[in-house]
Amino acid sequence: MLFWRVKPLDKILETAGKKALTRQLGAFQLTMLGIGAVIGTGIFVLTAEAGQKAGPAMMIAFVIAAVVCALAALAYAELASMVPVSGSAYTYTYGVLGEALAWIVGWALVLEYAVAAGAVAVGWSGYMNGLLMHTNLFGLVEPGALALPRWLQTGPYDGGTFNVLACLIALVITWLLVIGTSKSAKVNAVLVSIKVAALIAFIAISVPAVQSENFAPFFPTGWGSPMGGIGVLGAAASIFFAYVGFDAVSTASEETKNPNRNIPIGLIGSLLICTIFYLLVGYGAVGAAGSAPMVGANGQFLQPGTPEMAAACLNHPEALVCSKEPLAHVMRMVGFGGIGNLIGLAAALALPSVVLMMIYGQTRIFFTMSRDGLLPEVLSRVHPKYHTPHVITVITGVFVALFGAMFPVGILADISNSGTLFAFIMVSIGVMILRKQQPDRHRPFRTPLVWVVCPLAIAGCLLLFFNLSLYTISLFFGWAIIGLVVYRFYGYGHSDLGRGITGPEGGVSPPAEPAFHEGPEA
Ligand code: ALA
Repeated sequence: MLFWRVKPLDKILETAGKKALTRQLGAFQLTMLGIGAVIGTGIFVLTAEAGQKAGPAMMIAFVIAAVVCALAALAYAELASMVPVSGSAYTYTYGVLGEALAWIVGWALVLEYAVAAGAVAVGWSGYMNGLLMHTNLFGLVEPGALALPRWLQTGPYDGGTFNVLACLIALVITWLLVIGTSKSAKVNAVLVSIKVAALIAFIAISVPAVQSENFAPFFPTGWGSPMGGIGVLGAAASIFFAYVGFDAVSTASEETKNPNRNIPIGLIGSLLICTIFYLLVGYGAVGAAGSAPMVGANGQFLQPGTPEMAAACLNHPEALVCSKEPLAHVMRMVGFGGIGNLIGLAAALALPSVVLMMIYGQTRIFFTMSRDGLLPEVLSRVHPKYHTPHVITVITGVFVALFGAMFPVGILADISNSGTLFAFIMVSIGVMILRKQQPDRHRPFRTPLVWVVCPLAIAGCLLLFFNLSLYTISLFFGWAIIGLVVYRFYGYGHSDLGRGITGPEGGVSPPAEPAFHEGPEA
C-alpha cells in the first residue's frame, strides 16, 4: 500500500530538467546562508512564550530542539542532495514512499511554510507596533501618536480583533513575489549582519543585568506531559520553530564545493551558532526580566495565545510573556529604551525576508504538486510578463495574510511545527528505505552513521510532536484528514502518474527559479 504509485527518482530528476549549477559555496557561505534563514520570529518573539512554558529551564528546551533539528537536518541533506528538485520533502516522499504519503507530506508542508509565514508576519507586527508606539520621529510627533488602536494590533484570540500590520506585510511580500523579487545574496548578507548585531547588543546589555533570583525555581513547570504543551518538552516543541529554515543549506548541495564535507559543517555550524546565540539571549531575557510562569484561576499554568492569557496580561502588561516585542521590552525594563527601539528596528527590517522565504517555499511546493497533476493545473500557470507562478502566489499570500490577521504567533508557530516534524519523520524514513532499495545510487552527501542518526531523528521528532498541545495535534490530524479527502476526490483521479503520464511531457516547465543564493557571498 505504501509503495504504491512511487514516482521513479530518475523520472523526477527528468521532469525537473537538468540545471547545472556551479559549485561555488564553501563552508562559511553555507553557514551564513543557514543563519540568515533560521534567525527570525522564533528568537525575537517566541523566547517569551518559552519562558511561560518552562521558566528558566527554557534554556534546556533550546538545546533539545537544536539536537532534534541537527539530526533531522543530516537526514534531510542526503535526500536534498540526491533529488535536488523543487518540492522538498514532498518530492522525496513521492520518489520513495509513493503518492498517497507524498500527498500528505505536501499537505503538511502547507503548515510548515504558509502557517509559518503567518507566524513570522505576526512576530514582525509586534515589533512594528512597538516601534510605532515608542517612536517620536526625531521629536516631530509625541511618542505614541503613531500607534494603531489596540484592536488592530492583534487577532481575536489574542485580545484584539484584526492584526492589520501582519496582514499588510504578508500582502506586500506576496506582491513582491508576484513581480519576481528574489532573495539576493547581498541582501541576505546585510540582513544576517543586522539580526546578529541586534542579538549581540541584546546579550551585551541583558547579561550584565541578570539577577540570580530570577533563576529560582529553575524548573517551575517540570518536563511536561504528552499533549500538554507546557513544561520543558512543551517549550522545546514550540521553540523548535526558531531553528526551522536550515533546509536552505541542505538544498544548496548542488552548488557546494565538496558537499560531503561542507554540508554537514554548514548545517551543524549554523545550528550551533544559532544555539549559542539563543542560549545567551534566553539567559539574558530570563535573568534580566524574570519569567515566572503565570498561573490561571484554576491553578494551572496558562497557555500562551489563549484568551485566558490575553485576559491575565491586562493585569500584568509588564510580564515578559505579555510583550509582543520581548527583546525590546527587556531592554526598556533595564533602562536601555533607545537600544530597545534599535532592536525593534532590526527585527522590523529583517523579519520580512523570512516571510518571503516561507511564502516562496510554499508556492514552489504547490507548483510541484500541480505539475504532478495532484492540484489543478491553473495553479502552476506562469505570469506572461513576470514569469512567476502568480496564481498560486496570490492564493497563498491571501491565506497567509488571513492567518496573520487572526491568530497569535505561538499558535501559528506550533501548528507549523507539527507539519515540519511530520515531514522530517517521513524524510528520515525515506533515507533509510532508499539506502536499502537503491544502495548504489549516487549520493553527493551521505548522512553519517545513518542507522543511528535517522532512528534518533525520528524519535526526537515524535517526542517533540507529542509534546505540542492537544489543540495543535488535533488540528494537525484534522488537516491531514481533509487532505486525504481532497486527495481521494481530486488528486487520485487527476494524478499524472496515475494516468500513466510520467515523462517531462506530462507537466509544464517550472518558472525560472529566483536565485536564493546567487553568488559566493550568499
Ligand atoms: N526559524 C524561523 C524563525 O524563527 C522560521 O522565524
